[in-house]
Amino acid sequence: MTKHVSPEAQADLFRDDILAGLLKDRKVVSSKWLYDDVGSHLFEAITELDAYYPTRTEISILERNAKKYRRLPGARGAMVELGSGSSRKTDLLLDAFPDLSVYMPIDISANHLKAAAERVRRAYPSLAVIPVAADFTQPFGQLPLLPELPVLIFFPGSTIGNFEKSEAAALLSNIRSAMPEASLIIGVDRPKDAQVLQDAYDDPAGITAAFNQNLLQRINRELDGTFDLAAFAHKAVWNVSESRIEMHLESKAQQTVTIAGETVAFAKGETIHTENSHKYSEDAFEGIAHEGGWQITDVDSDENNWFSVYTLQAA
Ligand code: AVJ
Repeated sequence: MTKHVSPEAQADLFRDDILAGLLKDRKVVSSKWLYDDVGSHLFEAITELDAYYPTRTEISILERNAKKYRRLPGARGAMVELGSGSSRKTDLLLDAFPDLSVYMPIDISANHLKAAAERVRRAYPSLAVIPVAADFTQPFGQLPLLPELPVLIFFPGSTIGNFEKSEAAALLSNIRSAMPEASLIIGVDRPKDAQVLQDAYDDPAGITAAFNQNLLQRINRELDGTFDLAAFAHKAVWNVSESRIEMHLESKAQQTVTIAGETVAFAKGETIHTENSHKYSEDAFEGIAHEGGWQITDVDSDENNWFSVYTLQAA
């Protein structure tokens, strides 16, 4: 798939991307940089919170429908998981697919990926586990798969919501070009009551705030940064017109910060936009799916209609 990213290349990308984003008029950092080892663990902790409804809601939908997904051809071939996230979701499908032969997790975090692959190898010794360390937001190359194996792509967690709408369609299109015969099972969060969203992204225990602020710590650790964490506040904003929750880090004072030898100035109240989490209605998601060359063949939701798991096939 996408080229394998060496740690050195990844470090250069991180520096260039962070500096480019922080030197813009409206400071912005790609949310993919939130997921270093610390960030991945903090995100795992978020998924356990009462306030964070998406994970448990998606799991309940998968539990209710896993036997149905077994009828997809890929359930007897290879399961490609984008963003080797939650072991509970993975196991739920692996348990429901006894005839699966290959499990291929694809993740940007090499350590996270290695741990996930080792765990699955131990728990499912008859599966061939082929981890791929890659940034799946980059165009796909050839996957190391046997061409005759049917493929089921699993893209849970509403990660698709992190992309701008046009990028989301482009990503779906890349996936389709790489695996045109595959079925795609994708989890997508839906618009809902603003307070429910607000609480999910600014939880009372402050885990989401720590997750967001870890970005500053990561910059301090890896880019010799001088961020004072106490001088930046976590903000979650429901942007109704864009139908997305935005995470920001707001500068509490006028200040300057040094990063990899460069100086970055912050006004009081200025923010770094660190994440978008788009919430798609069925019509809105159908729009980007079509744009990406897919058709929806099935939709499964929870009783509140808070979250949906779609099954897609190339259009
Ligand atoms: C993993 C990207 C789906 O957008 O809900 C959770 C990340 N950010 N709390 C989301 C996240 C803040 C999460 N995704």
